[in-house]
Amino acid sequence: MTDEELLARADAIASRAYAPYSGFHVGCAVLTHDGTVVEGVNVENAAYPLGICAERTTFGRAVVDGFGPGDFTVAAITASPCGGCRQWLAEMQVERVVFRNGGRVVRMTVDDLLPEQFDAGDLA
Ligand code: THU
Repeated sequence: MTDEELLARADAIASRAYAPYSGFHVGCAVLTHDGTVVEGVNVENAAYPLGICAERTTFGRAVVDGFGPGDFTVAAITASPCGGCRQWLAEMQVERVVFRNGGRVVRMTVDDLLPEQFDAGDLA
């Protein structure tokens, strides 16, 4: 599956977003090494801070399906990932990220999206 095809999956699933407060529908699709595509959307809440970004619902769903860090090749997102979701992309060791931003399609590695990452190993 090409990055463009994966981004098309993210575009399509975005219509399922539950975003009555922001009206901003975000879709995410991640590709695993075995060729599985897992999709997610943002899910908002009347108590605004409780809302969940599309990337987080996607990875939560992927973990339930048995996937975990190191299993993902590409994440495609219909928006530029927020700071917190960049940390999730790092946690899941995604190889590369493709996303829409202001009419452009951007491709970046997680290291470029989130330089000098926090590593829990540094706590030891
Ligand atoms: N949103 C995401 O789903 N992913 C991001 O990386 C950026 C923001 C959602 C959260 C909220 O439901 C809406 O976009 C507006 O911020």
